[in-house]
Amino acid sequence: MLPLFLLLAASLSSAPIASVLAQDGGLSGPTSSGEAAGYSCDSSKCQLPDCHCASTSPPGGLSPEDTPQFIVFTADDAVQTYTIDAVNQFLKHRQNPNGCQPKMTYFTSLNYTDFGLVTDWFVAGNEIADHTMTHVGDPPAEEINGNLIALNALSGIPMSAIQGFRAPFLDFSVDTLKRLADASFVYDSSAAASVPVTEDDTDAFWPYTLDYGMANNCLSVSGLCKGEPKLPGFWEIPMYAFFDKRGVAGPHLMDPWLDAANGDSKVDDEATLEYMKSTFTDHYKNNRQPIGLYTHPIHVAPSYPGVKTPQKTIDMINAFLDWAQEQQNVWIVSNEQLLAWVRDPKPVSELDSVGALKCSTPAVDQNICNGMPEKEEGLQSKCTFDEYPFSTCYGCPDQLPTVANPNPNQTVPDGESARFRLPANCTTAFWDPIEGECICNSDTCSFQDTSKPVGPNGANLTGGGLGGSFTSSADGAASSTPFNGPGNGAQAMMPAGLLPSVLLALGAGLVGMLGVLNRL
Ligand SMILES: *[C@@H]1O[C@H](CO)[C@@H](O)[C@H](O)[C@H]1NC(C)=O
Ligand SMILES: *[C@@H]1O[C@H](CO)[C@@H](O)[C@H](O)[C@H]1NC(C)=O
Ligand SMILES: *[C@@H]1O[C@H](CO)[C@@H](O)[C@H](O)[C@H]1NC(C)=O
Ligand SMILES: *[C@@H]1O[C@H](CO)[C@@H](O)[C@H](O)[C@H]1NC(C)=O
Ligand SMILES: [Zn+2]
Repeated sequence: MLPLFLLLAASLSSAPIASVLAQDGGLSGPTSSGEAAGYSCDSSKCQLPDCHCASTSPPGGLSPEDTPQFIVFTADDAVQTYTIDAVNQFLKHRQNPNGCQPKMTYFTSLNYTDFGLVTDWFVAGNEIADHTMTHVGDPPAEEINGNLIALNALSGIPMSAIQGFRAPFLDFSVDTLKRLADASFVYDSSAAASVPVTEDDTDAFWPYTLDYGMANNCLSVSGLCKGEPKLPGFWEIPMYAFFDKRGVAGPHLMDPWLDAANGDSKVDDEATLEYMKSTFTDHYKNNRQPIGLYTHPIHVAPSYPGVKTPQKTIDMINAFLDWAQEQQNVWIVSNEQLLAWVRDPKPVSELDSVGALKCSTPAVDQNICNGMPEKEEGLQSKCTFDEYPFSTCYGCPDQLPTVANPNPNQTVPDGESARFRLPANCTTAFWDPIEGECICNSDTCSFQDTSKPVGPNGANLTGGGLGGSFTSSADGAASSTPFNGPGNGAQAMMPAGLLPSVLLALGAGLVGMLGVLNRL
């Protein structure tokens, strides 16, 4: 079946089509070349931890044998019980070489997201990252920043913890990257490494900063590369494609198990497993560039209503991870863990001491609404909206968050008090939103969030408050600034080329609601 969004794309006027087709999470060939990249970087000036040239060699001058083979695991779109179950069936029973359960990155968009589950997933040690509020490609700043504001308000995720971004449909522009850097995001992960590591002109670079511009997607995104955009200290974590028997002509990026392999017309899990293994081996035997399982977990959800559980595919993915983990020095990680290692690379013999790869459970005795399921039982607010219901520890908003108002007023049920949002000086697991109290009283759990310039006109925002407004962080004064989003002006701010993406988003949303498998 031709996916609906392709039909939509085909009906749109010519110009944006080529790029849109390359942005649905699929790839059809190289999206960069050495010539198109025109990349040069002065590695004597550009040094870790805050500058890193795009390079196929491991960071820190490590030899490949001393370099861990990272498998980045990411999920995109709404956080729901189905999608968390889907991720858990791949990771929950596994351990990394240091004995910790693997962590992953969830690029969260807000439609259909259960904010309470986001809290739980974060407190369990996973990374929560931004995927826009309503899933639009080439997003305006309000879509990017509103996601962070809403996740801070309704899921209690500290501002400083939301570091990364992935563009819906992988549809990003030079301006997207600039907006991210302006809002002090740490990294983007929307670009593709589209040429195998075994080719001379591979674009499978280790994560790099944009001090000297981009070196990926030079052929597919206009205005990128040849030194642009220069965003010092802002990282790109390329998404590393798998390649089937056709090599460079057979790339598979997101959800490779939904693609037919080797030019065949039908999906074949055996063929997928074979090329996932061979690409892994190519990375492992060369410069150990990370590989990634970039998932839309809804497609492999164990019991999504109305959809037959794709058990063979689920088993195949687990077989791949079993096989990969049998090899030495293989780690399954989130993007933030990968980046922490890249910024301060340690040889495999020292990985047990790397803090970012460690795991610990917050020492909380009281039963408070804090993202630990056994502690918060019965304490979450249940918010009923016609569009989708959700739970939260932080009080139900009086409307769903929107681009114009990402932090709506709280509704307080009769006989209850308003819940207190996570303040800047407490972290999620230790914050009691009902009493408005930080139960941390030792140095080991003390925490200070940073403010982010994500408010209207770049206002610096921090958490706290009750909803309906944000505390301005300037000099710590407790003044309140009501959020004043762009409202109906958003349309006027759309960059050229955004409209097709919006149509695509709507199409994809419809398909998603009907439960038809499709890639977002
Ligand atoms: C939010 O609540 C405040 C105080 O009750 C009220 O003044 C304000 O108008 C409300 N804002 C919206 C958008 O409903
Ligand atoms: C956090 O700041 C508030 C005032 O803004 C203060 O009352 C409280 O004691 C602080 N909590 C911690 C744990 O430092
Ligand atoms: C936000 O904070 C940063 C760093 O403290 C500062 O440079 C910037 O001017 C602030 N932005 C606004 C709009 O106040
Ligand atoms: C997502 O949510 C926004 C705000 O509630 C709504 O306007 C939009 O139609 C939703 N989109 C989809 C695809 O459901
Ligand atoms: Zn998406």
